[in-house]
Amino acid sequence: MATVNVAVLGAGTVGSQVIRLIQEEGGDLAARAGADLNIQAVVVRNVSAPRDVEIDPALLTTDANQAIDNADLVIELIGGIEPPRTLVLRALSQGKTVVTGNKALLAAHGPELYEVAAQNGADLYYEAAVAGAVPVVYGLRESLAGDKILRVLGIVNGTTNFILDSMTSTGASYEDALAEAQRLGFAEADPTADVEGLDAAAKCAILASLAFHTRVSIDDVAVEGISSITADDIAEAEAGGNVIKLLAIAERVTKDDGTEWVSVRVHPTLVPRDHALANVNGAFNSIVVDGESAGRLMFYGQGAGGAPTATAVLSDVVAAASHIANGGNGPRELVYANLPILPRAEAVTRYQVQAEIRDRVGVLAEVAGIFAANGVSIKSVSQRDANDEVSEGSGDLKTAVLTILTHRATEGSLEQVVADLNDSASVIEVSSILRSEVSA
Ligand code: HSE
Repeated sequence: MATVNVAVLGAGTVGSQVIRLIQEEGGDLAARAGADLNIQAVVVRNVSAPRDVEIDPALLTTDANQAIDNADLVIELIGGIEPPRTLVLRALSQGKTVVTGNKALLAAHGPELYEVAAQNGADLYYEAAVAGAVPVVYGLRESLAGDKILRVLGIVNGTTNFILDSMTSTGASYEDALAEAQRLGFAEADPTADVEGLDAAAKCAILASLAFHTRVSIDDVAVEGISSITADDIAEAEAGGNVIKLLAIAERVTKDDGTEWVSVRVHPTLVPRDHALANVNGAFNSIVVDGESAGRLMFYGQGAGGAPTATAVLSDVVAAASHIANGGNGPRELVYANLPILPRAEAVTRYQVQAEIRDRVGVLAEVAGIFAANGVSIKSVSQRDANDEVSEGSGDLKTAVLTILTHRATEGSLEQVVADLNDSASVIEVSSILRSEVSA
């Protein structure tokens, strides 16, 4: 049997599990790949740091360049843009196969990596970059290659799902739920990439590129995270029969003139309680794919964590090793469709707008007029007392909270509605805007 020499860059949460599984399951993996997997080097920052998994000290090195130069297959699990970009480019430019789980790198520099890979006959695999153990990259690229994908929508960030889920089940504030997620190890000490939606946006760009055969970068994705979601937003959502989920949405949009565009966005979204995505709890991920002919498919599973994500890495390693040993190529970048990215202002969805208002004669007509003037149709309105008072002329006036649900409208017209509401003397503030994408 042929031997494939492997360099593992990074021995953190995922890297150490990849090494453990190759050590423990090497026989089966070799039989599936048709090649022995020989870990030749494990590149780390500090060779004497404590590790979760026992690694032969002779394999540990800080010399990434030498490890890459000696390997047939490079597994990059360092994360972040640099040094991974330079190291991956070094491997690809030598015609070596790279398996990576690095969503940030792919979403920012995917085209550059693919170009260097193509120029040098190298293969690039990244199942682990989106949704951990969930085989959605393979699903979109291979299993659904026979269909036209219309929409990919889902929960692709476990940290934010955990936080929103714990706010929903306990009534906790965002700050308390985040602190609990950090205490339990679900959220990082610096949670920015997760809670501000950047991790989900990178995954959204990767999924959109695969689904629509178009280059989509993280900069194309309209992003809003969960850090401004309050316990009140969660309670209001619940009262309306919804939960709030951070959804990544990649959609093929056909305009009236027949042209096709790609709309990509990540934002907190109202999801009806009885929708399958509403019941994706804790740190799990789930992605719903609508194919023109296949109809609806749903992927579900563990989107993070060492061992689950390591299985995605190893699925690529088995495929890559098989190609190295037996011939054949890995997947190529397919961007033949080259669809334009729909500007954020033209994206269409439904909205729930909450505004605190002065509860006086004519305010409802005025607010409704603002929606009408901007062409945004109202679906329903409800009002409750806000238990606040504001001074008005010589006396005090009660305030109220209006919750307005709209029919489908563009982001641009909704933005104008919000600006006009904030300019109105009857409106104290627009306190929340949530989008509503899916029906039960
Ligand atoms: N931090 C990510 C999450 C996992 O919370 O889902 C890695 O992308």
